Amino acid sequence: MAESFDLVVIGAGPGGYVAAIRAAQLGLKVASVELEPQLGGTCLRIGCIPSKALLESSEHYEHARTSLRGHGVVTGEVGLDLAAMMKRKETIVATLTKGIEGLFKKNKIQRFTGRGRLLGRGRVQVTTPAGTTDLEARSVLLATGSRPMPLPGVEWHTDRIATSTEGLSYPSVPAHLVVIGAGYIGLELGSVWRRLGSKVTVIESLDRILPGMDLEIATEAKKLFEKQGLHFVLKSRVHAARVVEDRCVVRLDDETLIDADRVLVAVGRRPNVEDLGLEAVGIRLDDRGRIPVDHRFEAAPGVYAIGDVIPGPMLAHKAEEEGVAVAEILATGHGHVNYAVIPGVAYTHPEIATVGKSEEELKAAGVAYRKGVFPFMANGRARALGSTEGRVKVLADTQTDRVLGVHIIGPRAGDLIAEAVAAMAFGASSEDIARCCHAHPTLSEALKEAALAVDGRALHA
Ligand code: NAI
Repeated sequence: MAESFDLVVIGAGPGGYVAAIRAAQLGLKVASVELEPQLGGTCLRIGCIPSKALLESSEHYEHARTSLRGHGVVTGEVGLDLAAMMKRKETIVATLTKGIEGLFKKNKIQRFTGRGRLLGRGRVQVTTPAGTTDLEARSVLLATGSRPMPLPGVEWHTDRIATSTEGLSYPSVPAHLVVIGAGYIGLELGSVWRRLGSKVTVIESLDRILPGMDLEIATEAKKLFEKQGLHFVLKSRVHAARVVEDRCVVRLDDETLIDADRVLVAVGRRPNVEDLGLEAVGIRLDDRGRIPVDHRFEAAPGVYAIGDVIPGPMLAHKAEEEGVAVAEILATGHGHVNYAVIPGVAYTHPEIATVGKSEEELKAAGVAYRKGVFPFMANGRARALGSTEGRVKVLADTQTDRVLGVHIIGPRAGDLIAEAVAAMAFGASSEDIARCCHAHPTLSEALKEAALAVDGRALHA
């Protein structure tokens, strides 16, 4: 007889594993079905975590080569041990995935390694090379994530013309790396390989980088990345890319040919919705191949979906929030995600972080706003760090002073944005932020000063 659960979660990425833990905390009997032997999904295995490990390591390498001397630190010749750098990254991933295994055990979540598929309402089949196991579930949660989008005309060639997955593990530093797409992945991995010595060309179809991000901040980012040595080709579509006699040849829409050692395609991701048995429960995808859900994340009676397979930004922390919300809806009847305050962060140097509305969005919506800007140049801690590029921008409603958006480019922007998220979640005004005591000397003072600047009274600029 099939074993029965309150909740079967298909997919153990940040959305699925967090949902499983929260549901178990609330007393539900939970099963997790995951295809891969390692828990954690794309984010942990081949995304957020390994890329951050490489960003950190490559930044150390660059500092050692270029800026340590300015601190009075004299080293011998600086060398690169790429294999050791990769091993460190893999150890971090292995430790964290083991950590989730531990959390699953602690929360008595039953794990099934195999492909999960809906057979009908409340019925999930797990397929492994050894055979199939049927599970019964009061509720099923689909959290199967996404995978890189292919590009027509671009011929995959094992690792020579490939995705971010391969871009996290090149065995040597490519002399010339072409990145297609100036979004989060293109800029983060482009930065890693540039720091390690590659010439990096980023090709982007739009006339700007980081689409959707506040334009002033994205424009400043582009200038800084160019100063670091990234080369951008904007307003260009890749028409074709293939391997010819051991070289990669990239053809742009204006027939320009670019020769490269490797090509990394990062033009977005698409939801993993195939072979899930969606038709067995009557789920029909939307026009972008995503699973439509209602305000309770229900896609069909008793079947829920979260994360990259449903509409919204494809971000690990968005999926986590949704996972918690579904678990709480199932166990208590109530759960909620505040989509207005989901931060976005590019972990480049400097980091770029954003929450709420951009200036372009406010203008398009006809909302009157005031703007306060503070440069890191005028922040004492940024000076001590030797990282003075960038600024904080606070946008507040002209009438009410309520904070509508905060955009930061600068050191540790990804950590600084948390204060803005908390403030906005509580409906803070720019004056609320400005009147909070911020420790001195910290980078967080730049946010306070930008909030003061909304009213034209920044103290240090
Ligand atoms: P993206 O959507 O961030 O950027 C893709 C870029 O490719 C866009 O700028 C787009 O205009 C461009 N593009 C599309 N077709 C093109 C073509 N034919 N030729 C040239 N350029 C083209 O997607 P990306 O970077 O692949 O990331 C995928 C997802 O993963 C995103 O949703 C992102 O939010 C998420 N992610 C988030 C990270 C973070 O939060 N730090 C890090 C990595 C990924």
